[in-house]
Amino acid sequence: MTSIIATDAWRALAGYRNTTVSDTIADLFTADRDRFKTNSWELDGVLLDLSKNRIDDGAWDRLLTLAEASGVAAARNAMFAGEAINTTEGRKALHVALRDGTGIADPRVADDVAATMARLAAFTEAVRDGSLKGKTGKPFRHVINIGIGGSHLGPMLTAEALGDAACPEVRFAANLDGHDLALALADADPATTLFLVGSKSFTTQETLTNATSAARWLSEAIGSDAVGNHFAALTAKADAARAFGIPTQHIFPIWDWVGGRFSLWSSVGLPSAIAMGWPTFAAMLDGAHTMDRHFYDAPLKVNLPVRLALAGIWNINLEGLNALAVVPYDERLRSLPGFVQQLEMESNGKGVTQTGTPLESAAAPIVFGLTGTNAQHTFHQWLHQAPLGAAVEFIGVARPDHDLSGHQDKLIANLLAQAEALAMGTDGDGDVNRACPGNRPSTTILLEALDPKRLGMLLALYEHKVFVQGVIWGINSFDQFGVELGKQLAAHLIPEMSTASISSRTYSSSTAGLLDRYRSWREYTR
Ligand code: F6P
Repeated sequence: MTSIIATDAWRALAGYRNTTVSDTIADLFTADRDRFKTNSWELDGVLLDLSKNRIDDGAWDRLLTLAEASGVAAARNAMFAGEAINTTEGRKALHVALRDGTGIADPRVADDVAATMARLAAFTEAVRDGSLKGKTGKPFRHVINIGIGGSHLGPMLTAEALGDAACPEVRFAANLDGHDLALALADADPATTLFLVGSKSFTTQETLTNATSAARWLSEAIGSDAVGNHFAALTAKADAARAFGIPTQHIFPIWDWVGGRFSLWSSVGLPSAIAMGWPTFAAMLDGAHTMDRHFYDAPLKVNLPVRLALAGIWNINLEGLNALAVVPYDERLRSLPGFVQQLEMESNGKGVTQTGTPLESAAAPIVFGLTGTNAQHTFHQWLHQAPLGAAVEFIGVARPDHDLSGHQDKLIANLLAQAEALAMGTDGDGDVNRACPGNRPSTTILLEALDPKRLGMLLALYEHKVFVQGVIWGINSFDQFGVELGKQLAAHLIPEMSTASISSRTYSSSTAGLLDRYRSWREYTR
């Protein structure tokens, strides 16, 4: 068990855990034949099964008391009401307002959202039906999204999951590494390529470097005046986008009340909308709203995001499992682990609480993952037998959208088998090498289908899970100052990479030595 916070609710939980520490997951199933029924919750085709976590009724009672004592309901209401819950930056966190079908979010932003959605819808359909044309009068055949982090992961994940393969083809370039953009440009024709620059800040080095290279590639082929026809910006900094040469009618706003990793639902989702069509994108927004409405209305004890968050708290803080494997058994969700990784680790990977005091408890887990069954042939060995373990979140989809026989039942059988094996283990018939200790917790989220509604619900479930955990740990989940220092150091290093100039800064001998060898291998003259 890792450290916990010194409050009555945390102490009660830790004390209770000590009295039940020898009960295994297998014991819990033996003791309660209806355990699945009482430890799973379903909402509109999304089934959340928490029964294979080592959490009994007494632990659930205390976890729910912890959620109440931590003010989860009040924090949730403050988020929906548009209070500035991102206290370090004095900002609201109103991503729920971007998909607010039934009017539960702060109404002050509704008109702006509706106007922007209408513009996005029109632009999306104009790109897809070919009525929007490039400089030479041809419709677009490739759309390349340039953005990173929240301006990349969510759009790419949803485009991969729901894209309908209609023309144009949507591609993504995120990395500062030129190989990424080079690959996206490889067989594209400048005359039929549209670039979307997704950057809330319009200052991100990776994105601006890629956008500049893309503009050069375009200009060299069809003239520098092509930027106006071939670029659009998804940003909170319209002036910076205009200074880049992007015309106002191609600039789609996001607002300071939308955090980067929560921005998929805003203009940043435009590449995804183009990949799937506006009606599908809108249905995904509705799906997310279905989860928002449930999160907002449902009592904590039957609230899916709250239950999922509490199971995570139990595994991290009470069981000491500081890692979380996210394993979707659906190839279309191959980018989900990366999306959840940013969501969890950038939101709750903090060292201090809201009040600036050092964090007393473990918080965000190390998140990693891969699709099943590929994961079974990489890290599942470690999950089953290595002394340190991870909690696992399996995601399965009941109805496939391909018509190849002989795949789907095998696929989901494997998901079920992995979760069962982790929970129950085996003595290996006395062979220590084959023994798996079992008693390893997992959660299964089963979707009826991977349609826009269920995908929207799934992603909103994760967003709210992370928010609830942040509230319980006392963290501001909406800032990310930890990424700044590295950015600053890189800015100092960049001019020194290719020159022999002596830096006014001193680096460690390691950095100086590596820099020296890099310069010589690059054959920069000294
Ligand atoms: O990683 C830091 C971060 O600010 C993320 O939160 C964000 O998603 C990403 O960089 C990209 O930022 P921007 O959209 O401003 O380019």
